[in-house]
Amino acid sequence: MSSSTITRVLLDNYVPSGRAKLSDFKIVQAPAPTKDQLGENEVILRPLYYSVDPYQRNRISGAMPGYTENFKKGDPISNYLVGTIVASTSADFQEGDLVLHNDGNWETEYITKASAISKAPAQQGIDPKDYVGVLSMPSFTAYVGATILAEPKAGETILVSSASGAVGQMVVQLSKVRGLRVVGVAGSDDKVEYLKSIGADAAFNYKTCGDFDAAIKQAAPEGIDIYFDNVGGEFLDAALANINYYARIIICGAITQYNLSSPEERYGVKNITNVLLKKAKVQGYIISSYYNTPIREGFIEQVSKLYHEGKITYRLTEAEGLENGVQAILDLFDGKNFGKSIVKA
Ligand SMILES: NC(=O)c1ccc[n+]([C@@H]2O[C@H](COP(=O)([O-])OP(=O)(O)OC[C@H]3O[C@@H](n4cnc5c(N)ncnc54)[C@H](OP(=O)(O)O)[C@@H]3O)[C@@H](O)[C@H]2O)c1
Repeated sequence: MSSSTITRVLLDNYVPSGRAKLSDFKIVQAPAPTKDQLGENEVILRPLYYSVDPYQRNRISGAMPGYTENFKKGDPISNYLVGTIVASTSADFQEGDLVLHNDGNWETEYITKASAISKAPAQQGIDPKDYVGVLSMPSFTAYVGATILAEPKAGETILVSSASGAVGQMVVQLSKVRGLRVVGVAGSDDKVEYLKSIGADAAFNYKTCGDFDAAIKQAAPEGIDIYFDNVGGEFLDAALANINYYARIIICGAITQYNLSSPEERYGVKNITNVLLKKAKVQGYIISSYYNTPIREGFIEQVSKLYHEGKITYRLTEAEGLENGVQAILDLFDGKNFGKSIVKA
C-alpha cells in the first residue's frame, strides 16, 4: 500500500441471523485523506491497533434494537481503537499524539471530529497496544462487572464462563486479587491450563466435561456466590442451579445466542425460579454507560498499576493487517482467539 492509498473494510450485506461470512464484507482501497479535506476541529487519524469484539457481529444485523449503532451497508465498520494523529485543525491535538477512539473506522487512515477522540492517558509501563489489551473496553467491562456490580467479598466463589477471553481473563485475575475462589470455564484444554496459570482455583473445558451441572458441582462443591455470564443459554441455566443464597448473577454477554438462525432457537432458561428461592440478584449492564465516569479513571489507574507490577497478565491474539480483521471477528465465534483479539494495522 502506498502512503497515498488506504484500506477500508466495508459492510457489504446485513446479516440478521445465522453466521456472518467473509463475503458479507468488502475490502477496498481508496485515496488517503489529505489535510486540505479537514474541516474545523477535525483530525486525520492513523490507527495502530484495532480492537476485535463479539458485539461487532450484533452491529451487522441491520435491525438489532441495540445499545450501539448498527453498521450501515456500504460504510466502514468500526470499533474501539488506538492510533496517532497525522494532521489536525484542532488546538487540542497535534501531529503524533496517541489517541483513543471508542468507535473508530476500520480504515488505515480516516478523518474524524476531534470531539470523538481522546488523548491516551499516559501510564507508566503501558504501550499503545495495551489500550486495546489490558486497558481495553472488555477489560474495563470485567472491572465494572466483577469488582463493582458483583459486590465481591473475599472468600466467596465466582464462576466465570468464556474465562480465557478478553473479559474473562480479567474477571479471573481481578477476582483473585480480591481474595475470591475462582472457577473458570473455557473451550479447550490449553485455555483451561492458562486459567490455572493466572490463578483460577479450578477450571474445566465445557466442550468435554459432559453434564454442565455435574461439572460445576465438582469444581465448586461449596456453590456459586457470583456467576459472571459471558455465554447465556444452557450454561447459564446450569450455573443458576448451583447458586448460593444472595448470589449475584452478572449478565455480561450471551455469545451462544448471537448467531441463531431464528428467534425460535433462543434458549429458554429453566432454572430462573432459583433466583427467587435463593434471593439472588440478576444484573445486566452495558459498559458504554461507564465510559465518562470516575470509575474509568479508577480502572486505568488500578489495572495499569497491577499490570506494571506484574500482578496481572493479559493474553492477546494478534492479527496482522486490517485486511485480516474480518476473519478475526468471525474467529471469535469458533473460539479461535486465545485472550483478547486485536488487529495490528
Ligand atoms: N455488557 C457489555 O458491555 C459487554 C462488553 C464486552 C463484551 N461483552 C460480552 O462479553 C462476552 C465475552 O466477550 P469477549 O470480548 O471477552 O470475547 P472473548 O471471550 O474474548 O471471545 C469470544 C469467546 O467466546 C467463546 N465462545 C464462542 N462461541 C461460543 C459458544 N457458542 N458457546 C460458548 N462459548 C463460545 C469462545 O471461547 P471458548 O474457546 O472458551 O469457547 C471465544 O473465544 C461476549 O458475550 C460479549 O458480547 C459485553
